[in-house]
Amino acid sequence: KKRIGVMTSGGDSQGMNGVVRSVVRMSIHMGCEPYAIYEGYDGLVQGGDLIKQMKWDDVRGFLSRGGTLIGTKRCMEFYERPGRLVAAKNMILKGIDALIICGGDGSLTGADKFRSEWPSLLQELVEKGDLTQEAVEPYKHLNICGLVGSIDNDMSGTDATIGCFSSLERICEMVDAVFDTAASHKRGFVIEVMGRHCGWLALMASIATGADYVFIPEKPPAPGWEDEMCQIVTSHREWGKRRTIIIISEGAQDTELEKITADQVVKVLTDRLKLDTRKTVLGHIQRGGLPSYYDRWLSTLQGVEAVNAILDSTPDKPTPVITIRENKIERSNLEECVKLTKSVATAIKEKNFEKAMHLRDVEFKE
Ligand code: F6P
Repeated sequence: KKRIGVMTSGGDSQGMNGVVRSVVRMSIHMGCEPYAIYEGYDGLVQGGDLIKQMKWDDVRGFLSRGGTLIGTKRCMEFYERPGRLVAAKNMILKGIDALIICGGDGSLTGADKFRSEWPSLLQELVEKGDLTQEAVEPYKHLNICGLVGSIDNDMSGTDATIGCFSSLERICEMVDAVFDTAASHKRGFVIEVMGRHCGWLALMASIATGADYVFIPEKPPAPGWEDEMCQIVTSHREWGKRRTIIIISEGAQDTELEKITADQVVKVLTDRLKLDTRKTVLGHIQRGGLPSYYDRWLSTLQGVEAVNAILDSTPDKPTPVITIRENKIERSNLEECVKLTKSVATAIKEKNFEKAMHLRDVEFKE
């Protein structure tokens, strides 16, 4: 029976448990044996009890739980070849030559590298006498499939990453809560949201909550932003608004870009408009809590598709990543998606913001 490993890697996101549940049950349904790799790549490197066979009942109740119940870690050892060598050995000892990984672009790039290196890793293990030629013979090719789990929605090639809509919902709830207290005191609030180098969460949250102004990394403030922001806030106040909400993406404060910080925005509102203004950093609240219905749905369907992709994969096919475009679950080329994601980051670094915005919109087919 084919053994399929499933793991969650990088920062957790809502919906990762849905992926594990879906992969475990679909694997069993397809006559395979699923294995959970606990603690991300660390589980592969440590082996032993961190690689555990999963039965149908082991994932009962997973769908509605936040975080990742099989753990995750940003594992530095796996990013070096010696770490990957041990990981390959542990997999062969468990009879696993297929991996489904749910994580961000860094975790998925690591997986793709592992796959391309696999034959040379096996050869090295045989040469060193760690494994015999007979032991590695049945596992000549490593099959990998990626699923994008991240609250940031920062992967090109997919309309939504698993977790981004739950996080957006959480942010909106929190901003609504701040609204109440802000309106009571006629205060201003500058609310910092996560997203790493991607402004999706901030932009969507600002539209969904009717915020007064938003800062995102893809379109940093132009010189004179203070005047523009103050003029907008003043006109909103004149129309009767009792509170001011400014949303700032953590990535918009990247010091390599136009230097802008939440504190600076607070100061502008306080000094120029004499607004009693506070800063609120939402932090990891955005990553916790129940997955939304959308993430339960997305993780389930994508988990099913990931198992199908593994069963269809051949050594000559590029590593797939499961995406969603225009509401259709699809298989895309992992390397291309990662490449496009990186070119957005590069465009932002080079301050070519128009290109970054354009690349974020690019649709491409496998
Ligand atoms: O990638 C998800 C994310 O939550 C980002 O939005 C944020 O920048 C980062 O992870 C925080 O990482 P950590 O949990 O390691 O502090």
